Amino acid sequence: MSSRTATPKTRAAELRKTLNSASAAYYTDEPIMTDAEFDRLYDELAALESEHPDLVAPDSPTQRVGAAPSERFRKVEHLAPMGSLEKVTSEETLVKFADDVRKRLGTDEPIAYVVEPKIDGLAVSLLYENGAYARGATRGDGERGEDVTPNLRTIRAVPLTMTTKSREQPPGLLEVRGEVFMPLSGFRAFTEQQAADGKKAAPNPRNAAAGSVRQLDPAITANRPLSIWIYGVGQADGVELTSQWETLQWLRAHGFRTNPFAERLDSIEDVARASREWETRRAELDYEIDGIVIKVDSLDQQRRLGALHGRPRWARAYKWAPMSAQTKLRKIHIRVGRTGALNPWAELEPVQVGGVTVSTATLHNEEDINRKDVREGDTVVVQRAGDVIPQVVGPVLPHPRGSKPFRMPANCPLCDAEIVKPEGEVMHRCPNRACPSRGLETLIHWVQAAMDIEGVGEQFVRRLWDHGLLRSMPDLYRLTPEQLQELDGYGEISSAKATESIQESKVQPFSRVLLGLNIPKVGWVMARNLARHFGSVDALMAAAPEELLEVEGIGPDRAELVAEWFADEDNSRLVEELRALGLQMSSGEEERPIEGPLSGKQYVITGTLESWSREEAKASLEALGAKVSDSVSGKTTGVIVGESPGSKLQKAQKLGVEVLSEDALASLLGTR
Ligand code: IVH
Repeated sequence: MSSRTATPKTRAAELRKTLNSASAAYYTDEPIMTDAEFDRLYDELAALESEHPDLVAPDSPTQRVGAAPSERFRKVEHLAPMGSLEKVTSEETLVKFADDVRKRLGTDEPIAYVVEPKIDGLAVSLLYENGAYARGATRGDGERGEDVTPNLRTIRAVPLTMTTKSREQPPGLLEVRGEVFMPLSGFRAFTEQQAADGKKAAPNPRNAAAGSVRQLDPAITANRPLSIWIYGVGQADGVELTSQWETLQWLRAHGFRTNPFAERLDSIEDVARASREWETRRAELDYEIDGIVIKVDSLDQQRRLGALHGRPRWARAYKWAPMSAQTKLRKIHIRVGRTGALNPWAELEPVQVGGVTVSTATLHNEEDINRKDVREGDTVVVQRAGDVIPQVVGPVLPHPRGSKPFRMPANCPLCDAEIVKPEGEVMHRCPNRACPSRGLETLIHWVQAAMDIEGVGEQFVRRLWDHGLLRSMPDLYRLTPEQLQELDGYGEISSAKATESIQESKVQPFSRVLLGLNIPKVGWVMARNLARHFGSVDALMAAAPEELLEVEGIGPDRAELVAEWFADEDNSRLVEELRALGLQMSSGEEERPIEGPLSGKQYVITGTLESWSREEAKASLEALGAKVSDSVSGKTTGVIVGESPGSKLQKAQKLGVEVLSEDALASLLGTR
């Protein structure tokens, strides 16, 4: 809008500002514009600057090497364009689609449809040369995508070699297409870890998946819980396929993960029925779907129907109504979490959203509330995504008269301590370690996230807390059925059941115990890494900070926090008490490092390897029993050095640690 009315000078300034914030957001998990949009604005700015050279400012993105989009990820041309789908949003328009197909194909032909869940993720293309994974790319603008080969390689559901029958030759060139997504369970764990790290969490699984794939460092992608469903073939040399249904079977038989809920249906009425069924059952899935995709099954019919502006006439995306509604925001409350973080949440006038009554919603943090400009008394749009907590999308303006923007309280609502906001973090925190909220929230976290105790959840903990029966984790294991029976609503059976499942949860693995202890900045991933690395709480407690640094992904700040936590007497008493009660204090089978010829050896990888991704090299070493860590110490057996190694090489030389070439790695792994 302003491009037409603004002077070149103000327009250039506006473009600089927009592009610079887009670049800054690019490597985070929340890119704020598409690549196509970035390219368009960048080109506009470049054109303006070449017309008016005096407008070139030092902070212009055109002056910064590496800022041009082409230099962020290499662009790759798709073998055939990756189109997009026309949407239908009602049964009426669905039937219209079928009528159009029927009209174009003639009335006598049978027409079958394949219905697949529409995964809400990131479309990618995977290229296989003679059966081996050779390239992975994002959809991009459909013609050209970004080369994310090493990143997609880290997703376990992406086969590195396609499966072939004993005498079958893999196609010289095969291109398959699919959707990368983050399962909801993984999204929860990831969000939890981001919160533990004081980082801003992605607002939904789709953004989390897209942000994870577009990381410059594949090691980051590797640590994210990603998966993929493959739904189509772009090109398959020498393979004769005649239908979408056959294509899915072929993909499955060759090692690609295809969605098990795909169906082949003979009429559009059946398709409509399937859509209704899936709309009500979507919450049962561990991933988000926002509709279904309907494809004419026969590839011959597809060819005859063709496409219009890159959108096939033979397919539609049936997008369901978003799970959102409007209601009144009564009040903004603050909940102090187990890490002391202040979590604002909205008390809502109860409203039905996608078949569920919603009366509370998360508001994330002060910055987010004020960015959306949500205020008490507003009518707001509430959205539910999968079974993730409902969110307030934004207000329906105008605000009620006299309303004021939201401000975090200066003091903790529970213990009155002065609230702090650490530099670089978005969350406000109560710094008081003895704040009563922490004990309660830690217990809730313990029963729900960490130990996952059946039938024992937040309400249970809150009631027992209010009755003074519960103050710490060990209390939980000492509860008797008789004590519970004193509470309203607890009979003999339900009391016995609750205490029984509490006792049964003692078998939960060590990594879960670690997660539940509420050690600062230790979420799911770190708890598992610590359990794997040390194998027992004794080894972990005895570890010096330098040894902690050897744990994958830990960094000096976190190492110090972990060491500090275990050095605290109250904490070691808590550990001993839990041990005495029978909780797992050493790693179980799945948490133990593998026994193999390299057991006891510890390697560090630095620089870029030619024949392996870092993840592959790491996985192969670990499969032989070795540990692979991030930092060099006296315990390091060897440092494997690739192209342009970092400071780890110098450190190895200083400490006299053996330096290994990629060839040496190959012989170590027995592959050469
Ligand atoms: S087929 C010509 N099948 O939905 C495009 N797409 O605009 C053919 N999607 O970008 C796409 N699940 O990212 C297809 N089972 C599925 C899908 C699917 C999700 C996404 C895909 C595409 C968008 C459609």
